[in-house]
Amino acid sequence: MLKRTNNCGELRKKDAGKEIILNGWIDRIRDLGGIKFILLRDRYGKTQVFFDPNENNELYERAVTLGIEYTVAIKGIVKERPAEAVNSDMETGEIEILAKDLEIFSKSETPPIYVNREEDIAETTRLKYRYLDLRKERLQRNLFIRHKAMQATRKYLSENNFMEIETPYLTKSTPEGARDFVVPSRIKSGNFYALPQSPQIFKQLLMVSGFDRYFQIARCFRDEDFRADRQPEFTQIDIEASFVEMEDILNFGEGVVKAVFQETIGYIPETPFKRMTYAYATDTYGSDKPDTRYGMELKDITEYFKDNCTDFIAEVIKNGGCIKGFEVKNKASLFSRKKFDEYTDLAKSFGAAGLMWIAKDKDKAEPRSSIKKIAQKEINEIINDGIIEEDSIFFALSGERKVINKILGQLRNTVIREETEKAKGFDISWITDFPMFAWDEEENRLVAEHHPFTMPKIDEFEKYADDPLRINGQCYDLVINGYEMASGSVRIHRQDIQKKVFEMIGLSEEQINSKFGFLIEAFKYGPPPHAGMALGMDRLVAVITGEDSIKEVIAFPKTATGSDPMSDAPSVLDEKQLKELKIDVKN
Ligand code: AMO
Repeated sequence: MLKRTNNCGELRKKDAGKEIILNGWIDRIRDLGGIKFILLRDRYGKTQVFFDPNENNELYERAVTLGIEYTVAIKGIVKERPAEAVNSDMETGEIEILAKDLEIFSKSETPPIYVNREEDIAETTRLKYRYLDLRKERLQRNLFIRHKAMQATRKYLSENNFMEIETPYLTKSTPEGARDFVVPSRIKSGNFYALPQSPQIFKQLLMVSGFDRYFQIARCFRDEDFRADRQPEFTQIDIEASFVEMEDILNFGEGVVKAVFQETIGYIPETPFKRMTYAYATDTYGSDKPDTRYGMELKDITEYFKDNCTDFIAEVIKNGGCIKGFEVKNKASLFSRKKFDEYTDLAKSFGAAGLMWIAKDKDKAEPRSSIKKIAQKEINEIINDGIIEEDSIFFALSGERKVINKILGQLRNTVIREETEKAKGFDISWITDFPMFAWDEEENRLVAEHHPFTMPKIDEFEKYADDPLRINGQCYDLVINGYEMASGSVRIHRQDIQKKVFEMIGLSEEQINSKFGFLIEAFKYGPPPHAGMALGMDRLVAVITGEDSIKEVIAFPKTATGSDPMSDAPSVLDEKQLKELKIDVKN
């Protein structure tokens, strides 16, 4: 075997004259003036090789049989390229290899995916031939960055005394609230394991065991609706520590994120990260995961309408509601009446009764507006006060504050996605003070917003016992560029508080015992105060590599329906397996 002496990305002008061997795949083939040029590719780069019939005709004749994606070894001499042939777009563009010997390791059929081209290919094709898709430079880079992110995580956390401990995959349902993937037990037929949605309970048990700083790069499984930032199996950087408070975990979280950014792309985020409360984020951006790079903060313009007698406006104000909206700068000229109608329909699809819009066109005295007939005076005042600048638009809604905040947040995100150029850089914020509970309309009961082991803010817990929706939890999310990147909380280690929280969310003794009896049992034996968080590794690497979908940073991801076109999973089991498991499949 002609074993490589060098890789395809490393030869330079200084190597001219050396005899070398390269191994790799054939990326491109060209004929120029009777000479055969091939581009040889491996993980490290590409190098140009040429076969000259005047040097060795027998070798040239063999080179003529080569096709793209053949795997070969080439022995040759490094030659400096003539000045006019230097390719400054290629790292190895100053040199080329004059071939002296060739070994064909294996041939390739015409590949269903061209590795050397960026083209629009159906996702199922990309995933069916993922091993070819993964040969592409972009995915090779993404996975390399992911590898570095994992190394940086391990290094930072190990240096800070965190121990990497694995927890089981065959387990019992965890309280994260998504649907479980389940695995039937053969020995205990009729019983099922649940794949962990996160190692939440196990990491808390490890705290009881005295492993006061734990981490794991843990695979988690959730049977949810899959979107660009969600996969059925994904990876968390899972962290838990004892004898700590929220501030300590935020510090460690910042440490991990900083180390990962620095080691992957050399970017050093400013610390401490900025912080905002949940209440502030939702009131200012209509979202608990705002991307603040785009501005467009929500403004309350109720004041302008307090004397307006139009039924729906007067009604909203009388009921304690408000009128709020946001400005979209420098876009009025791009908004036709039709486009405003489309945005109005969109707002309605998000649950709004209608959409108020005002456009202050450039060089036109008269603004355009959906509320012109009912609020001429107010529109003029709003414009005079500089709330809408020249060539800008204002979108507003009226109604109950929380409801319209949410819809405005969705509209703002649509404007960001559809109308705005992608912002550069990284916008990193902690969101703190999430509500402890939410009201579940369907089940007609309180539910835990994060999970039921989240420590409430003690003063609020005592003060608002009768009005639990006002109680905030000691929990926090990390948001980067509008994505929820991490989530965590201080945990309850006091039995009295835990019991009360369970009562508040209406869990019976029986439900508590069957769901997490073992954790409650463990907490009888001296649980330390502890807190933790989990960072989504896939999302973090996607943001770092600038990818919109986490699929681009996962070697073998699933489609939106949770299937794998390559292996054809999920698939039916054969009769024998079903029989062993005592499973009867009904159609
Ligand atoms: P949470 O459920 O918020 O918290 O998850 C933590 C982080 O994991 C990532 N994430 C996902 N990434 C890809 N696909 C998914 N389906 C998916 N679901 C979640 C997100 C998210 O912020 N045990 C708690 C953490 C704790 O309290 O310590 C937990 O799992 O980036």
